[in-house]
Amino acid sequence: MYDADHARPAQSGRRAILHDMEPTADDFLGAALKGLSSTPKALPHRFLYDAEGSALFDRITRLPEYYPTRTEIGILRDNAADIAARVGPNVQLVELGSGSSVKVRILLDALDNPYAYVPIDISRDHLAGAAQAIQDAYPDLRVEAIAADFAQPFDLPPRGAGKRVGFYPGSSIGNFTPAEAESFLKLWAGRLGAGAMMLIGVDLQKDASILEAAYDDAQKVTAAFSLNLLARANRELGADFDLKAFRHEARYRADEGRVEISLVALKDTEVTLDGRRFTFEEGERLHVEDSWKYTLPGFRALADRAGWEAETVWIDPDGLFSVHMMRVRP
Ligand code: TRP
Repeated sequence: MYDADHARPAQSGRRAILHDMEPTADDFLGAALKGLSSTPKALPHRFLYDAEGSALFDRITRLPEYYPTRTEIGILRDNAADIAARVGPNVQLVELGSGSSVKVRILLDALDNPYAYVPIDISRDHLAGAAQAIQDAYPDLRVEAIAADFAQPFDLPPRGAGKRVGFYPGSSIGNFTPAEAESFLKLWAGRLGAGAMMLIGVDLQKDASILEAAYDDAQKVTAAFSLNLLARANRELGADFDLKAFRHEARYRADEGRVEISLVALKDTEVTLDGRRFTFEEGERLHVEDSWKYTLPGFRALADRAGWEAETVWIDPDGLFSVHMMRVRP
């Protein structure tokens, strides 16, 4: 059967370019064994996003309690013209990750004749799909995706006449420790180079009640998201986590400025993975992720140590979230 969609030639329209830097396949088993052997136990949060986890995260971004996504989108919409004016024409827009086409479209719609869009992501398949969707929506734009691990060495494609502008939304920077975030920003100052700018979304410190609800919603979608880490280990690694033996927990450590997300054992329980047995005592935590929150001066100081000077910062009217624009210090 041929419907209209299948009848359309597969190669119609412009194809996005994909530079494959061959990021090494991530070793879930090795990382899980290492995490379960450490004290406190942990499972690395980069494994949260399989197909199941990505679908759950998509639901998280639309939860009433999870303010970051809609707030950052609002800031970008309200200030798109100002952003465009500050970066000027013909920019090469380099997105660190390729998760949020909604956000990058706000920029692409506002920018004056962008030279190219360069999304970079470790997940080649996700990247190729996201890059092509942008290409189809912006047929005249040069879309040059790069499949790479941020940490591996690689060069960016040459820019045109305009500035190179990094875009790192979603407060993903908050999933690094401050020391890691500083090295990361230092690496990207060098990689984007002299004259470059960066637009980065950074979640702000606030009341524990707001933060803890954002990471532990009433519908329990976030709980399902973190428990999916165990479910995924069962599916892919043949582990036998008892999902009912753990509860999701988010607690804000105001002294540190971070939300600690963990799974807490509700009773003594054990798991066998790759022939090895790991035991949990009742109340023991399995660390899932930290989400660091910043003050405006706190983030500015960190960025400054990494070689970035402040251009400006935008905040929503409720003071929940910040979008910093900064430039590589000459
Ligand atoms: N890293 C994102 C954040 O800090 C994603 C996230 C939202 C998340 N809820 C979560 C990660 C719960 C782990 C568990 O906002």
